[in-house]
Amino acid sequence: MTTSTASAPGKAILFGEHAVVYGRAAIAVPVAKVKATAAVTDAPAGSGCTIAAPDVGARVHLSTPNEDPLALAVRLAIEKAGIEEEPDWQITVRSDIPIAGGMGSGAAVSAALVKAVFAHRKVPAHRRPKAETVNRIVYAVEKLHHANPSGIDNTVVVYQQPVRFVRGQPPQRFDIARPFHLVIADTGIASSTAAVVSDVRRAWEQDTDQYEAIFDGIGEIAETARRAIESGDVDALGPLMKENQRLLRKLNVSSGELERLIAIAKEAGAAGAKLSGAGRGGNLIAVVEPKKLETVQEALLAGGAAGIVVTQIGA
Ligand code: MEV
Repeated sequence: MTTSTASAPGKAILFGEHAVVYGRAAIAVPVAKVKATAAVTDAPAGSGCTIAAPDVGARVHLSTPNEDPLALAVRLAIEKAGIEEEPDWQITVRSDIPIAGGMGSGAAVSAALVKAVFAHRKVPAHRRPKAETVNRIVYAVEKLHHANPSGIDNTVVVYQQPVRFVRGQPPQRFDIARPFHLVIADTGIASSTAAVVSDVRRAWEQDTDQYEAIFDGIGEIAETARRAIESGDVDALGPLMKENQRLLRKLNVSSGELERLIAIAKEAGAAGAKLSGAGRGGNLIAVVEPKKLETVQEALLAGGAAGIVVTQIGA
């Protein structure tokens, strides 16, 4: 019996969520401290292919209808790998990425599954599908989570690189001239990306001009932030986060709990903070100088954050 494993990291959108759905630039980074890992093991002949996600108590069969994201990810990967008959495999996927928290848990689970299927197919590494192929499959699964994903989540977890993303264009990697630190704090409130994205869509339909202007502002912030990161101007990031959060509030995607924790992070010394991902609940990110990391982390935990990840962005 052989086992093949593969994993994919979480992600944080630094700047540009929501506006990215409407064609503006956004930037995101992988967060390797949390990840999803899939393991494919040969099972006894005739047992078919089952996929288990014990962390969420899910167990599905490959033939489960398309609406199941685990089965769809594996089915699309199997098709692409040229496997014609259902394989006898037991697949297990585990993840420590908070679910519905804005850190790309769905995309990372799909990416880990797809990569593990290709690894188990025993295609030599140099003939394995390119990241672009994996990305396309994961994007197809993302569409189950919400009808109109921009594609940024799957792109950053599949490429595992800092990404400048504009819908419909090839993703661009950007350089991080000077490392900086993020404190990522979980509100503990699960938030459905699908619901928040469709609320924004409804509001945009009713007040297109105002929403387009907000998206323009967010897109400009994302581009300014990317240039700052590429030139090592880390001090610019705090004020840009504050400004991005002000515009996210105008989109009505923040929440009392996010605002409360953002205020706590800033009072404890964060240079800036904003929600990350779809908002309403999920995670916030704060950019924090190294000497204040512990204070900010402790303040957020004392203030009720359900979980914290402290991570360095850049080498
Ligand atoms: C979700 O992580 C990011 C959003 O911009 C939606 C998307 O880009 O598909 C809110």
